[in-house]
Amino acid sequence: MNVPIKQYAKLLGGYLKPQQGRVALFAVALLISIGLQVLSPQILGYFIDTSLAGASGQVLFVAALLFIGAAFLTQLLSVISTYLGENVAWTATNALRADIVEHCIQLDLSFYKLRTSGELLERVDGDVNVLSRFFSQLAIHTLGNGILLVGILVALFFENWLAGVSLTLFSLFALMILLSLHSFAVAPWTTYLQVSAEFFGFIGEHLVGREDIRANGAVSYVMRRFHQILQRWLPVYQKARFTSTILWSTSVGLFTIGNAIALGVSAYLWNQNAITIGSAYLIFHYTNLLNQPIERIREELEELQQVEASIHRIRELLQVQSHLSTGGDRILSQSALSVSCEQVWFSYQLAQQTASNSYLTPQEWTLQDISFYLPAGQVLGLLGRTGSGKTTLARLLLRFYDAQLGCIRLGNVAIAQTSLTTLRQRVGLVTQDVQLFQASVRDNLTFFDSTIPDTQIRQTLELLGLGTWLRSLPEDLDTQLDSNSGGLSAGQAQLLTFARVFLKNPGLVILDEASSRLDPVTEHLIEQAVDRLLNRCTGIIIAHRLQTVQRADQILILDRGRILEYGDRQSLLNNPHSHFSQLLKTGTTDFLV
Ligand SMILES: Nc1ncnc2c1ncn2[C@@H]1O[C@H](COP(=O)(O)OP(=O)(O)OP(=O)(O)O)[C@@H](O)[C@H]1O
Ligand SMILES: [Mg+2]
Repeated sequence: MNVPIKQYAKLLGGYLKPQQGRVALFAVALLISIGLQVLSPQILGYFIDTSLAGASGQVLFVAALLFIGAAFLTQLLSVISTYLGENVAWTATNALRADIVEHCIQLDLSFYKLRTSGELLERVDGDVNVLSRFFSQLAIHTLGNGILLVGILVALFFENWLAGVSLTLFSLFALMILLSLHSFAVAPWTTYLQVSAEFFGFIGEHLVGREDIRANGAVSYVMRRFHQILQRWLPVYQKARFTSTILWSTSVGLFTIGNAIALGVSAYLWNQNAITIGSAYLIFHYTNLLNQPIERIREELEELQQVEASIHRIRELLQVQSHLSTGGDRILSQSALSVSCEQVWFSYQLAQQTASNSYLTPQEWTLQDISFYLPAGQVLGLLGRTGSGKTTLARLLLRFYDAQLGCIRLGNVAIAQTSLTTLRQRVGLVTQDVQLFQASVRDNLTFFDSTIPDTQIRQTLELLGLGTWLRSLPEDLDTQLDSNSGGLSAGQAQLLTFARVFLKNPGLVILDEASSRLDPVTEHLIEQAVDRLLNRCTGIIIAHRLQTVQRADQILILDRGRILEYGDRQSLLNNPHSHFSQLLKTGTTDFLV
């Protein structure tokens, strides 16, 4: 095994420790139930022998009662131990899940760039589920079945040493055969799982893109791909089932051999007068009892390989460090924040560590030597063609990435010197993508911050012209929205994200093409709201269209990551040779040189 036991113990021990009491209780229940499983057949052996010897009905009656009692107790203990096992496992793995999710959320964006969300889901859900099975079934049952196996063999030795030796040898032989066959069955199942993952990935992707697929007439193409995957799936499944059937018939065959050995040994010993009929029955019964732990141990060793891979992947994920430093403890002022950018250089390749500093050509710097100063309360209009680096600059201000060179200050505090939480509380961002969550309207707006009173939420919605919409909701602020904009029009969804920023009362707000998807009426509502918002804080408005930046005090035009022009809006307007006034003539940044 690649992952030493010590590492399992370290990862899992931490999560099991808080539940010591329950773990101990569980171990006791498990051990007693194993003990009963081994001992209760003894009562049957005794029953047979004493009844043959002509014992009184009362003795037999007591023996029968004892046997029934033991069987009942065994079942009861198995219910208790299953309950405790699952409980311990889920408590531990939920804690692990929470740690993984928290860890992932805190990582910088370059981490997400390198991994798909499907892959992360698989880590948080798939791998952790495997681990929870490991806790609740594997660890416990492998151990339990191991003890049961040894217990049965010891009981057989007690009956007769010859029976003990021959059935111990048989058990070893059966385990060996079953385990060696296992590797032959694993490959087809792995292929099967791959094809099924591909199938579900395909379905998921196309369900999300259903509107585009229909709009572009790609339905028949999608159906053809669908059938192709299904056609590959069936033979792979048949092969996997076939190998499993072989494995199953081998194990049935092996246990028949085991029974034959038990019968042969018992017949021989009885002929020799070495054992009683009761003992002969016990040897046969114990041999049957052997099937279960041997079968189980084989299955569990198989699963252990999956667990090993999962633990490995989870540890790997937990070891990924954020490229962002945690920041200092400087606090940001509660009023509007000035923004100062000093010779900022940024490259995605360096942030994702796919290039080293010395190999970067000027084109590979997404932002080059960006400097500007925006006094508190003023508004900067950020213009530039698509891909010029406007959104990237916004990401740096929120520290989704750190600039490689230069410094950004908000209200005279370098953003690296304040905590990420403080920074993101004080800077509001409205992006092109509206992300709503499957939660109530209230939670979507406050981000689960229960300190924000309902009256404030209502006021904000009224302010944004969403009052009528709110009143039309069946359950007011408690109405559940679903993800993917939950039945809202694009404009309404966008207005809701505006409301979010309003409620946060930030010191700096960044609007990234925020009004580009709205109809004229909604846009007018937004315009008014933005004016009110910008009265309270500093603003950066990123826009393709020029009328959106009419309220700006300063204008900065980016071109391929460099500053093409920067200055006062009014003075740029007055200068007929400025890029800005030339842009105004064409009306759109698409004509930027
Ligand atoms: N996560 C990323 N990883 C690598 N490169 C990126 C990433 N995001 C953007 N880029 C690249 O950085 C450059 C600037 O992108 P950015 O999104 O900042 O442009 P933009 O000015 O906001 O464009 P638009 O007006 O289309 O929104 C582009 O060349 C883009 O391909
Ligand atoms: Mg952008």
